[in-house]
Amino acid sequence: MNKEELLNKYESPLYVYDYNVLKQRCTDMYEFKESLSKKIGKKVTMHYSPKANTNPAILKVVKESGLCVDSMSPFELSIVKKCGFDNSQILYVCNNIDQNEMKLIHDNSLLVCLDSISQVESWGKLFPKTDIMIRINPGTLGVGHSYKVITSGKSTKFGISQDNLDELLEVAKKYKLNIIGVHQHLGSLFLDDKISDYILGVEVGLNIIKKYFKNLKIIDLGGGFGVPYTPDENKLNLNKVVNKLEKVLVPFIKEYKSVEEFKFEPGRFIPCESGKIIGRVTSLKFENDSWWIGTDVGMNELVRPSMYDSYHEISFITNNKKEVLANICGNVCESGDVLAKKRKVILPSVGDIVVIDNAGAYGYSMASNYTGRPRPAEVMIKDGKDKLIRKRETLDYMSENIIWD
Ligand SMILES: Cc1ncc(COP(=O)(O)O)c(C=O)c1O
Repeated sequence: MNKEELLNKYESPLYVYDYNVLKQRCTDMYEFKESLSKKIGKKVTMHYSPKANTNPAILKVVKESGLCVDSMSPFELSIVKKCGFDNSQILYVCNNIDQNEMKLIHDNSLLVCLDSISQVESWGKLFPKTDIMIRINPGTLGVGHSYKVITSGKSTKFGISQDNLDELLEVAKKYKLNIIGVHQHLGSLFLDDKISDYILGVEVGLNIIKKYFKNLKIIDLGGGFGVPYTPDENKLNLNKVVNKLEKVLVPFIKEYKSVEEFKFEPGRFIPCESGKIIGRVTSLKFENDSWWIGTDVGMNELVRPSMYDSYHEISFITNNKKEVLANICGNVCESGDVLAKKRKVILPSVGDIVVIDNAGAYGYSMASNYTGRPRPAEVMIKDGKDKLIRKRETLDYMSENIIWD
């Protein structure tokens, strides 16, 4: 089914995922884990981070591919459980959670990763003498694509820095908590040019571990595996990541005998390239020396350009030929609702189809109803067949929780 037929069948706009691309990325991550495990002689586990995309159709492919998951909220937990992941395959990575959420984690016998002394104290009061993981902030400059998703260094809300680890150990001791693992996540999206920054963060993290933690079983080195968004970026060289990790992990393992397992938490890498958003051009105008192409896809469906100034490839299915520089926008009443600025494109006509690439991660999962627009449907294409994997929201659904009087 072509894009015109998909829009006619499911309405516009629409998230469309390609099963083959998704499956390939899961295989890439499986091979990464197998290859690293062989080189370092330890168990390696990949926990897909569903914050990138929570659709069960995607989670099922992750599961079939031999990968595990993390969860960051009760909703994510309920979805991954419904998709068949058992407790041992789920790592609960959280920050600033309340006691109810802690009880939920405990009731489900999940391994929890806590990210502040205060949270460790709250957990310890509720569940003394239990196993926990803690999240450190190695303090190196992180590897995110935007300062908003850099999660290491001095300006992030995440993790416990080296200065506070003595106090953390005191609090853990007070509640007889057994710290079995340490986690760090440096940020979201590194490509080849940042592998050495990622490795530096790992080396610093491992040195912190040697200094402060004596008998860890698990070390979690986070996510952040990037995908190319712009035409001049290349695919992340996973072999290079494996080889560089081998160089730092092998000597560490020789010295630090208790470690049994290394975990990673890829999010974006798995669904990103499989997903596109397709929609319609709804208006065209030339104002203030610029073309403005209005579409029914905007910050509600893909907030990354407005939120992080992110680049997404955008094309039009059109019979036109004239190339222009244009701003491409959505239909939300906000000046920030712009998907691309001064982009060289073929000027489409109203009614033509707009295609936005790399929307499989942090697309639907960050979508909103801002200005009262229903979230679109999601469709998976497998063996040439389209399958609806989430219905379009209706206005009734959106009004369901309103109390009218
Ligand atoms: C703790 C943690 N793990 C994993 C991820 C997934 O990151 P990414 O999608 O960049 O792989 C994130 C995202 O920010 C995160 O905060």
